[in-house]
Amino acid sequence: MTVSDPVVESIVATVTRSATEIRQGLVGRRNTVDDEENPSGETQFAADIWADELLAERLSTIDGVGQYASEEQSDVLECGAAPGSSDTYAVAVDPLDGSSNLTSNNAMGSIFGIYADSLPARGDTLVAAGYVLYGPITTMVIATDETVSEYELSGGERRLIDQDVTLPEDPVAYGFGGRVPNWTDTFEAYAREIESELKLRYGGAMIGDVNQVMTYGGIFGYPALESAPQGKLRLQFEGNPIGYIVEQAGGASSDGEQSLLTVEPTDVHQRTPVFVGNDGLLERLEASLEESV
Ligand code: AHG
Ligand code: MN
Ligand code: MN
Repeated sequence: MTVSDPVVESIVATVTRSATEIRQGLVGRRNTVDDEENPSGETQFAADIWADELLAERLSTIDGVGQYASEEQSDVLECGAAPGSSDTYAVAVDPLDGSSNLTSNNAMGSIFGIYADSLPARGDTLVAAGYVLYGPITTMVIATDETVSEYELSGGERRLIDQDVTLPEDPVAYGFGGRVPNWTDTFEAYAREIESELKLRYGGAMIGDVNQVMTYGGIFGYPALESAPQGKLRLQFEGNPIGYIVEQAGGASSDGEQSLLTVEPTDVHQRTPVFVGNDGLLERLEASLEESV
């Protein structure tokens, strides 16, 4: 099933084709690169840099892509007409999400958001977003304003397996990042409630954990920490695209106070607390955190 907007379809097809190569290219690129940090100040793996170069080259040359930005590059790459003009978009990419899982050979992903505005952009200017999950099977989830679809990827092609992905009503799984002593007291109180109700599923790669929530229902979060009040995850490359996908699938997103898609961006690499999942769980979270104010 192709996406109706031809530029969006071209971006999705390019990511599909590249995902097979990215997965194969992880072999031999599990080393960290000395003296290299990403704009968030984090150590880079050879695979991070390689996946970013591959996607940057292919996505920035698509007609209709006006900007390319990734968590691995400081600056936004201007590559065409200003996004927001007719059929011109900005693409924000997390080329390899959960790359620290390369060391332990656990699941990872790639994330992309397609914005109809110049970066940094609000999440509610997204026209589509998607993620690839490098699990036992390589799958891809794509959300547009019409629907959320899931595909199996192989040989550079995608095969539709679900054309109306929706979050199950009854939540099952939860996963919260950060270390417990670093959580705020109010978040810890909420987490204690949730852990008495749901099953822990936390694998250290947002995409692997979010896919559990998309499959079984529940909540994934990387909260504000005492040591990092803005949390760890990046709004443009992780929070917005995943928030858009989960909201399109009938769930909710939050930074603890509001939908991630309404957060006013100030910087391409800004971090934000991220919560996505069943709306009832997020309503309880926001109520809990509000009590502390
Ligand atoms: P990335 O590899 O793109 O930097 O993302 C890693 C993120 C996210 O995937 C995951 O939810 C989180 O880091 C895990 O952080 P901890 O290692 O602190 O649990
Ligand atoms: Mn990431
Ligand atoms: Mn990454």
